[in-house]
Amino acid sequence: MTDVIERNVHDRLSRVIDPELGKSITDLGMIVGIEAVPRDVIDSGRSIVDVTVKVELTVEGCPLTQTIIDKINEAVTSYPAAKLVPHIDVASMSRSKLTGLVNDLKAERRQNPFTKPGTKTRIFAIASGKGGVGKSSVTANLAATFAALGYDTAAIDADIYGFSLPTLFGAHGHPTNLDGMLMPVTAWGVKLISIGMFAGADRAILWRGPRLQRSLEQFLSDVWWGEPDVLLLDLAPGTGDMAISVAQALPNAELVVVTTPQPSASDVAVRAGLVALQVPMKVRGVIENMSYYEHDGERLRIFGEGGGRRVSEQLTKDLGHEVPLLGTLPLEPEVRIDGEAGRPVVLNEDGTLADSPLAAEFKGIAERLMR
Ligand SMILES: Nc1ncnc2c1ncn2[C@@H]1O[C@H](COP(=O)(O)OP(=O)(O)OP(=O)(O)O)[C@@H](O)[C@H]1O
Ligand SMILES: [Mg+2]
Repeated sequence: MTDVIERNVHDRLSRVIDPELGKSITDLGMIVGIEAVPRDVIDSGRSIVDVTVKVELTVEGCPLTQTIIDKINEAVTSYPAAKLVPHIDVASMSRSKLTGLVNDLKAERRQNPFTKPGTKTRIFAIASGKGGVGKSSVTANLAATFAALGYDTAAIDADIYGFSLPTLFGAHGHPTNLDGMLMPVTAWGVKLISIGMFAGADRAILWRGPRLQRSLEQFLSDVWWGEPDVLLLDLAPGTGDMAISVAQALPNAELVVVTTPQPSASDVAVRAGLVALQVPMKVRGVIENMSYYEHDGERLRIFGEGGGRRVSEQLTKDLGHEVPLLGTLPLEPEVRIDGEAGRPVVLNEDGTLADSPLAAEFKGIAERLMR
């Protein structure tokens, strides 16, 4: 009987997925022993069996240790034919075993997982010409919206000098370094990476060489992303280099241009979109931010009008394909206040999508992007 139980528990554990690596804990070599020892007692018709599961985690004190242990407990106790009492014995992998595992993962994923033929990940790079128009706020809220809608979502803070995603997501953790492979930090359901999450030697590695291009490549190849449904990139302001780097590293990336309503922003936004004439990159659409402020039921156009529409029309004409205006977002103090407090404004405390016009607007944009 113990054999049957041990095999069954192993089967159940093979369906437990490591939340960071996205693979089953048995495939990852994390289960090193299962031993079932029956007690001489029967409890309401079922025999009681002690089951010891020996687990080797990738790194000690890994932030998700408890999650994995809970899942193992659940897998053991859900056995139907007997009452199994789990005893989980946790250790960490030896250095050489970990190196082997990481090498296997790296080999399987090759260099940059997003250039693999047939990859299902949709990639949207959020750009603007002018700074301060709300790219990072849009990226954070759009990513949070995708996650709340159930998409496996990742975001890269590609603005290496002016990084802001850690603050906007309240993500204070550091990426776990698994023998040279970095685990993104998950916040509000989004897998995130930003230069702001690194300190000391790790940051120095990311900053070496021609910074911009290298840091993006390292974020793509040295971070374990799994295969998300959506990857968003928050770009630095500007009209050239950054988008070109993105197009080179991520040929499937689609550009989304953010502008405010006034001409001083929309003129540069057009130039940011025209980068698509130099590199093969699709411009997916335009988002107008800070379009109006609602006061006593009236929409005050604080920053003028029409920027988003102008960018959409001009890019449609110059690029020869439809570049739609995907949405217009109001100016709302909560965007800034919640952002500074570390929660994307479109989310409730529990991570579900808020029941607000702004969240509905973001949902509409997310749905149009995935079409
Ligand atoms: N719709 C909005 N309503 C109110 N405040 C907003 C809105 N969008 C952005 N902000 C605020 O405007 C400021 C600039 O926004 P954000 O940092 O997102 O812009 P950015 O384009 O990423 O800037 P940078 O070019 O510096 O990267 C922030 O303080 C942000 O909270
Ligand atoms: Mg920004």
